[in-house]
Amino acid sequence: MTAQLIDGNALSQQLRGEVARRAADLTAKGRQPGLAVILVGENPASQVYVRNKVKSCGDVGFHSVLEKYDASLTEAELLARIEALNQDPSIHGILVQLPLPAHIDDHKVIEAISPAKDVDGFHVASAGALMVGEVGFKACTPYGCMKMLESIGMADLRGKHAVVIGRSNIVGKPMAMMLLAANATVTVCHSGTADLAHHTRQADVIVAAVGKRNVLTADMVKPGAVVIDVGMNRNDEGKLCGDVDFAGIRDVAGWITPVPGGVGPMTITMLLVNTLEAAERAGL
Ligand code: GUN
Repeated sequence: MTAQLIDGNALSQQLRGEVARRAADLTAKGRQPGLAVILVGENPASQVYVRNKVKSCGDVGFHSVLEKYDASLTEAELLARIEALNQDPSIHGILVQLPLPAHIDDHKVIEAISPAKDVDGFHVASAGALMVGEVGFKACTPYGCMKMLESIGMADLRGKHAVVIGRSNIVGKPMAMMLLAANATVTVCHSGTADLAHHTRQADVIVAAVGKRNVLTADMVKPGAVVIDVGMNRNDEGKLCGDVDFAGIRDVAGWITPVPGGVGPMTITMLLVNTLEAAERAGL
């Protein structure tokens, strides 16, 4: 069997088209969706991510502001900027790019963002809303993974076993909650799991979100399973690759997401979806 690809670029394009149409409607009513992106320091990967986020805003007709600060910015100064953006009616979403310099407490900064503008879905209130099934912003990467499942007719996972590899606050934990909300039976595996393959071999859906190459190989996958690869690594030749052995697993799985062109573009797309929803809710 050769797995079918879940094309994150094509799905993103389709979703961004809908976002652009709804953004145009809001703009016509005098409420153009607005995103503020804050970058502190010179982390090269962060600079690329932030540039892509701001560019994507322009592509769907959002207003965006990029605030770049020197790594010497104090925590108090950053908190003051967030407070000003919380009060700014032209800004519906606030994103502080992580990681922050070591002298700034990430947690304190995220908690300073108004939950109504927390389009990253990282605030404790957003995580709590997801846990208890209330309205809130969902973390963009796992939200994008759910949209990919939806796109292959797997919106409802009743009777399916989903295995998440990784337990980060940004991906693994919210992913498990979203899969549970979709009625899957969910197992979360991590660095303390004794026999990872034992779990993954039983899975109908596997989400790999570890940040390490070849965490999942063909012998660990049940024939026909759906494999979603959140990883973003470099191989020995410097080429972008995910967490799973794509070439090997492709012969076993039913569906697989490529890297690049899989989950990556979906993350920014869901940021746009969240920002649009923040702007729509601001009028309620
Ligand atoms: N750093 C790496 N990924 C992310 C993300 O999704 N949001 C923010 N704010 N920072 C990140």
